[in-house]
Amino acid sequence: MHEQIDHPCVQHKLAIIRDVETGHKRFRELATEITQFLCYEALKGIRTREVQVETPMATATCRKIDTDIVVVPILRAGVGMLDGILDLLPTARVGFVGLYRDEETKQPVSYYERFPPQTKGGTCILIDPMLATGGSTIAAVERLKEAGAGQIIVICIVTCREGLEVVERAHPDVPIYTASIDDHLNDNKYIVPGLGDAGDRLFGTPHQ
Ligand code: PRP
Ligand code: URA
Repeated sequence: MHEQIDHPCVQHKLAIIRDVETGHKRFRELATEITQFLCYEALKGIRTREVQVETPMATATCRKIDTDIVVVPILRAGVGMLDGILDLLPTARVGFVGLYRDEETKQPVSYYERFPPQTKGGTCILIDPMLATGGSTIAAVERLKEAGAGQIIVICIVTCREGLEVVERAHPDVPIYTASIDDHLNDNKYIVPGLGDAGDRLFGTPHQ
């Protein structure tokens, strides 16, 4: 299952974050803002429980979130989406998966991993701005499943049909929420039109 969030507020911000003229400060702000919209949509089916709340007037039947939430950025670019989610879910815990794409093979290489105990049985939100070939997402989902995650939800800012299909084939139980399903991958396995190298644009490093 995947869903592209077509809301005009998301698409407006996406147009600006894609722009080659957008500098790293604004890029970071936009990544945060877009992530908040995507997260809001992605969590619409999350488990809740009924609670009774005393208002100044009467007892109200309300609902509260009833699952541990663990947000898991894929290092490094996923960190650019973390603040946006934590603004919405301030009590969420945070795990990390360190992966980079080998320049030659384009395969993900693992270099770090740390999950809170609530990962086991919890709702894990995997974040990375780019889902390109899908290799990094598949590797991170596999690690979360090995750690016993209850439910896994992927949120990315930009993806493409090719990468989506690969991830959905490997993990059909994992929903993916995105602001855009782009046209294709180029020979270097970058998303076109995409937004370039998300990590470099977020953190102001020159493209290697
Ligand atoms: C980027 C991006 C994803 C991955 C996507 O990370 O942030 O993690 O590539 O590509 P894939 O879907 O083909 O696996 P990168 O390897 O550039 O590392 P960085 O976040 O440290 O810049
Ligand atoms: N990683 C990025 O940062 N951008 C892409 O388009 C593909 C992988």
